[in-house]
Amino acid sequence: MKSNFHRVGNRAAYTGISPVLSCARRLACLGGIAMLLAGCRLDMHIQPKYLPDEPSTFFDDGRSDRPVVPGTVARGQLHTDELLYTGKENGVVADKFPFPMTREDLERGRERYNIYCTPCHDYTGGGQGMIVQRGFPPPPSLHLESLRKAPAGHYFEVITNGFGSMYSYASRVEPEDRWRIAAYIRALQLSQHATMQDVPENERSKLTEQNAGNVPGHAAGQP
Ligand code: HEC
Repeated sequence: MKSNFHRVGNRAAYTGISPVLSCARRLACLGGIAMLLAGCRLDMHIQPKYLPDEPSTFFDDGRSDRPVVPGTVARGQLHTDELLYTGKENGVVADKFPFPMTREDLERGRERYNIYCTPCHDYTGGGQGMIVQRGFPPPPSLHLESLRKAPAGHYFEVITNGFGSMYSYASRVEPEDRWRIAAYIRALQLSQHATMQDVPENERSKLTEQNAGNVPGHAAGQP
């Protein structure tokens, strides 16, 4: 070190002045200690931790994962409402909704249905979605009598667990939205099976006009 300083410092400032030199020595020494210590330091890239299912000698049972304390519930997972979270009541698939369906709920249901279900079930529920047109096995029409009669909870279950070759949408559609989709499917079903009695009286004349071909822009008898 000393000789280095002499060589580098043919300049007077380094050679002759001993306080500077001793200070530099001390710094070099400290630096050395710091480097030694750095060797022992636990850095972020070597974190002391257990990976899932790794054994441990610390706990008597030899496991590093600790068992859940009985009665504890993870945040957001206290699902006490059976109907809302399973579509069932006392273990039986229910034909009702866990909350009243407003217009906003139906619109949200339509939006979710259009995003998640139309690729296969298509916009009308007929089962001729774009993926089916490209070769995916066609789902049944949602207007089949058996499906029109299926309880609302059945739709909740199908979205939650999947059905046959249809996979589960539980990770993408929240429970409340599953019910909104189920309600929208009911609306779709009604759209294909409604009678004149289902139409509010003050709206009926519009339909009669349409049937007579009197809608502006449409000539009679043409689609
Ligand atoms: C990737 C295509 C695909 C998507 C997307 C899809 N489905 Fe299906 N769905 C199917 C197929 C295929 C079947 C028939 C499965 C079988 O019988 O094996 C089916 C069956 C069903 C059935 C009938 C169950 C029964 O009792 O017969 C319902 C109801 C249904 N789907 C609802 C939905 C809803 C609601 C969504 C949107 C959240 C959805 N599906 C998204 C392909 C799809």
